[in-house]
Amino acid sequence: MRRQVLLFISLLSLGSVFGQVSYSIPEEMTKGSLVGNIAQDLGLDVKRLKSGKARIYTRDSEEYIELNKERGVLLVKEPIDREALCRQTTPCALHFQIILENPMEFYTITVQITDVNDNAPTFEKSEMKFRISESSVIGAKFVLERAVDRDVGSNDLKSYELKPTDNFELKLQSNEDGNTNVEMVLQKSLDREKEEQISLVLTAVDGGQPQMSGTMQILITVLDANDNAPIFAQPTYKTTIIENSSKGTVVAIVTASDADHGSNGKITYSIMNTLDDVRKVFNVNKESGEISLAGNIDFEQSRNFQLNLLASDDGGLTDSCKLIVEVEDVNDNKPDINIMSKSNVISEGAKPGTVVTMIHIEDLDSGENGKVKCFSNDDIPFTMKMSTNNFYSLVTESDLDRERASEYNITVTCSDEGIPSLSSSVTLTLQISDVNDNAPVFERSSYEAYTVENNTPGLSIFKVKARDADWNQNARVSYILEDSSVNGVPVSSYVSVGADSGVIHAVRSFDYEQIKDFHFRVKAQDGGSPPLSSNVSVKILIQDQNDNAPQVLYPVQTGGSLVAEMVPRSAEVGYLVTKVVAVDVDSGQNAWLSYKLQKATDRALFEVGLQNGEIRTIRQVTDKDTVKQRLTVVVEDNGQPSRSATVNVNVAVADSFPEVLSEFTDFTQDKEYNDNLTFYLVLALAVVSFLFITCLVVIISVKIYRWRQSRILYQSNLPVIPYYPPRYSDTLGTGTLPHVYNYEVCRTTDSRKSDCNFLICNGIFGLLHFFSQSFSASNCLCNE
Ligand SMILES: *[C@@H]1O[C@H](CO)[C@@H](O)[C@H](O)[C@H]1NC(C)=O
Ligand SMILES: *[C@@H]1O[C@H](CO)[C@@H](O)[C@H](O)[C@H]1NC(C)=O
Ligand SMILES: *[C@@H]1O[C@H](CO)[C@@H](O)[C@H](O)[C@H]1NC(C)=O
Repeated sequence: MRRQVLLFISLLSLGSVFGQVSYSIPEEMTKGSLVGNIAQDLGLDVKRLKSGKARIYTRDSEEYIELNKERGVLLVKEPIDREALCRQTTPCALHFQIILENPMEFYTITVQITDVNDNAPTFEKSEMKFRISESSVIGAKFVLERAVDRDVGSNDLKSYELKPTDNFELKLQSNEDGNTNVEMVLQKSLDREKEEQISLVLTAVDGGQPQMSGTMQILITVLDANDNAPIFAQPTYKTTIIENSSKGTVVAIVTASDADHGSNGKITYSIMNTLDDVRKVFNVNKESGEISLAGNIDFEQSRNFQLNLLASDDGGLTDSCKLIVEVEDVNDNKPDINIMSKSNVISEGAKPGTVVTMIHIEDLDSGENGKVKCFSNDDIPFTMKMSTNNFYSLVTESDLDRERASEYNITVTCSDEGIPSLSSSVTLTLQISDVNDNAPVFERSSYEAYTVENNTPGLSIFKVKARDADWNQNARVSYILEDSSVNGVPVSSYVSVGADSGVIHAVRSFDYEQIKDFHFRVKAQDGGSPPLSSNVSVKILIQDQNDNAPQVLYPVQTGGSLVAEMVPRSAEVGYLVTKVVAVDVDSGQNAWLSYKLQKATDRALFEVGLQNGEIRTIRQVTDKDTVKQRLTVVVEDNGQPSRSATVNVNVAVADSFPEVLSEFTDFTQDKEYNDNLTFYLVLALAVVSFLFITCLVVIISVKIYRWRQSRILYQSNLPVIPYYPPRYSDTLGTGTLPHVYNYEVCRTTDSRKSDCNFLICNGIFGLLHFFSQSFSASNCLCNE
């Protein structure tokens, strides 16, 4: 401590005031510290002090100084606090008087108290709080509290210091009143996002020695400003979605962050696309950034989507990102079958490989889901052939046959390769048109028909039928009679065939005796082009009718009935008188003849063999029996109805010819006639013999001539049919018919009554033979 003692001796006023002394002491001196040697300074003797009962006089209540009379010094009675005593006033001094008695005198003492740095600067508050927006501009000022220091002078407040100085710097500004304003000035922008709370320390220091200081905490809360835009976590998001996903499916979640706080950091998501379809299909949750399906997506319409997403905070700052949504195909489209061209009808003659239908396939799906294969049902002679991608043709695989199948229902099925596979099908109806590839076929391999003779011309005999497997005109069968000849006559003069009906008609009346059966062929021909045909053999068998009466060959019937059989009177019972010989040109039962005696002069004498026509005696001839016997024999066939012929047989019962003549009175009437006849017969014999020789010569010369000329000419055009009665020998039984009757020739049934045609030469032979036998026959016998 510095002790300063100032001594004044004032001699200005004598009397009561004899002197004035000043001392200077620092404050806060301990009790008992010496302030000054007052006795010495006043020039007084210690004894005087004692005697004068020196004492301190002051009006202040508190005494800081006491007087020590023994030593004559002033001592600190109470420590003095300058600040308490004088506050900021300077200089600070204690004024008091020392009063003496005997004589009374007083001295004024001034004790100046000098400052000691015993007070640090102090702030009223230990801390100060600020809320400063981070957006505050540089240079913004913030007033700080001043510090105070109770000390004065150099011990008073000297300066401030602010730490750290990152954002703020201190600015001191002296006022007119001597005070200093303390301010902090923003010198670097605040960033709430970096530092939300800033703590600074303001230190005030005084100028004392040693220096003292006081501090204040400055707490700054940085207020948010919307200085940060939202930022998406990724600039581009990618995702895939199946096309059949249902509405509401979450596609993706986008996130953006905003460094700001509160509403400045509150992000709202939205879709920015202006194209409507994206907005219709996708929804974004404003708050969560969840993107979900709002509509249906169809891979076939759009294979991907690009969403432009926007994140914005409340302050209006934004960021955008892209979301690429790839749509994954699902096999949701059936193949679409489109028939480009098709034929409804195909000829059965079409070659394998003929294209029937062309088809185009479309499947909207992609990849395997869109790969399509087509095939047709396999039980048909058609197959699917792929020509180029998605183009198929339906072609014939093998030969077609309309007769086997005239129509096909072809089911074309197309399926894709998706899992599960989808397919669609279409049914085509194809008609097979006819080609004339089938000939008519007769129902039987050959026909045989019966018809009864003497039919009416035009009679339908029977019917042939042929079928043709083809269709319509190709199956229309016509029947044609094949040209051939029957016995040298064209068959067409026997029968005709109904072209459409196949009915066989007789053209003429048949005669069994002339023809018993005949063959011909009927051709069936269809209406195709070219036509096909087949033929069949037809055999017509003619059945006999009893249309011929028996013919009596013997005995020969003459008009005069001169011929008689001789029966000697000596004839035994059973004597064969004669035999009636008859034939029937019919056959079978119709030609089975029986003989009956119809009339007789004496029925008891003769009988006729039923089967053989033999006339025999049935009893002994007696003399009483008349010479002239006349028998009528009926020859009957067995037909239905039966036909018959009668013959008269003259029998002469006599032993000699004259007897006969005498008896046959009616015979004598003819005697002249008989003479004449004999003559004529001789004459005729001569003529015939001549003619025969001539004939022989002519024939031989003609034969030689023709042989020389040519063999072609050797053809007989004579329409002559030699006819031999059937079962000729059977009919005759045991009887013998001379062979001469073989010459007999009949041409037609019609001519039987009037004509008697015979080959001239044969006739001559016959005549010769005849004459050689007997003169009893004079002309040719055909019929009665
Ligand atoms: C989508 O398609 C798949 C395959 O076809 C099927 O398994 C699935 O159930 C479908 N989903 C919907 C939602 O229809
Ligand atoms: C084809 O289909 C039609 C109609 O369904 C049917 O009437 C016809 O009989 C079928 N044809 C064949 C050959 O199956
Ligand atoms: C009749 O048909 C046969 C085969 O059945 C054939 O050989 C013949 O030539 C045909 N005849 C005619 C005249 O068409």
